Amino acid sequence: MPQHIKRLISAFAVVILLFLVMQQVLTPKSFGKSGHYRADAIPENKLKELHYAGSAMCTKCHEDMQTDKAVGFHAQLQCEVCHGPGLKHARYADRFKGKDLPDSLLLHKPDQRQDCAVCHQLNAARIKIVFDTINQSMIHQVNTLKHNPIDKKTKEVLRCIECHNPHQP
Ligand code: HEC
Ligand code: HEC
Ligand code: HEC
Ligand code: HEC
Repeated sequence: MPQHIKRLISAFAVVILLFLVMQQVLTPKSFGKSGHYRADAIPENKLKELHYAGSAMCTKCHEDMQTDKAVGFHAQLQCEVCHGPGLKHARYADRFKGKDLPDSLLLHKPDQRQDCAVCHQLNAARIKIVFDTINQSMIHQVNTLKHNPIDKKTKEVLRCIECHNPHQP
């Protein structure tokens, strides 16, 4: 065999050996046990703390809000989209019925203009759907710089929820 072929073969052998050694060292122990993934990832993820309760749980104590919301434009929104993760609140709020909730159980109340603008601010990049002859966004957008009614007395820009009920806008 010519010399240069021998050198090439030994170079390949070294690379393959290195690959096999690295594979042994670097592959996590549980890899491949139940498929082409790390089996330990499942119990590890199960141990993670939960943060969201889901709207069904909120409805158990706040049926009036759900009834309100179910017939309006916001029917499809989950409570926690606006109020933030609420599992702790949902589990323990009952103990404080009629009293003030401790800070740790209070939820976000998205009552500022920018809270609504997250979804409703005019944004040229949002997907449009064509509907009759009008090009319309999936979520009705308003230019919050123009749709900003001012209180005649105080001269302040009104917050959205002073005109729109957030649960039934
Ligand atoms: C076990 C009953 C219970 C569940 C479940 C529950 N809540 Fe409450 N919630 C309460 C109580 C009690 C209060 C205190 C005020 C009151 O009596 O209405 C409250 C108050 C609130 C308030 C106003 C006070 C604040 O935190 O700013 C919001 C908003 C709220 N809940 C949203 C939610 C959402 C969203 C969920 C679902 C993730 C939820 N709640 C699940 C019992 C519950
Ligand atoms: C579009 C965002 C949005 C969604 C979705 C939403 N909320 Fe609210 N919610 C608000 C805002 C804003 C307020 C504050 C209203 C205010 O201060 O007048 C509020 C207030 C509340 C309050 C306190 C009422 C009070 O009188 O203090 C409760 C309880 C509540 N929401 C529960 C829910 C529940 C339960 C759901 C799901 C069924 C839900 N919300 C979905 C925006 C939302
Ligand atoms: C998580 C996104 C989201 C947030 C936050 C949100 N909305 Fe909406 N809103 C929607 C969707 C989705 C609809 C239903 C589609 C539509 O009609 O535009 C809607 C519909 C509406 C409509 C009816 C529009 C129409 O078709 O005539 C109004 C008014 C409205 N929202 C006001 C508000 C106000 C006020 C707030 C703040 C308290 C708010 N929204 C917060 C997603 C959101
Ligand atoms: C002074 C009361 C008032 C305030 C404050 C107000 N709106 Fe409105 N909004 C209205 C009225 C009235 C209409 C319906 C009139 C129309 O269709 O032009 C409307 C319509 C809308 C619509 C539907 C537009 C459409 O395409 O049909 C959306 C979305 C909306 N408002 C979101 C908001 C948001 C977000 C805020 C806060 C940044 C806000 N509004 C503040 C009174 C108000």
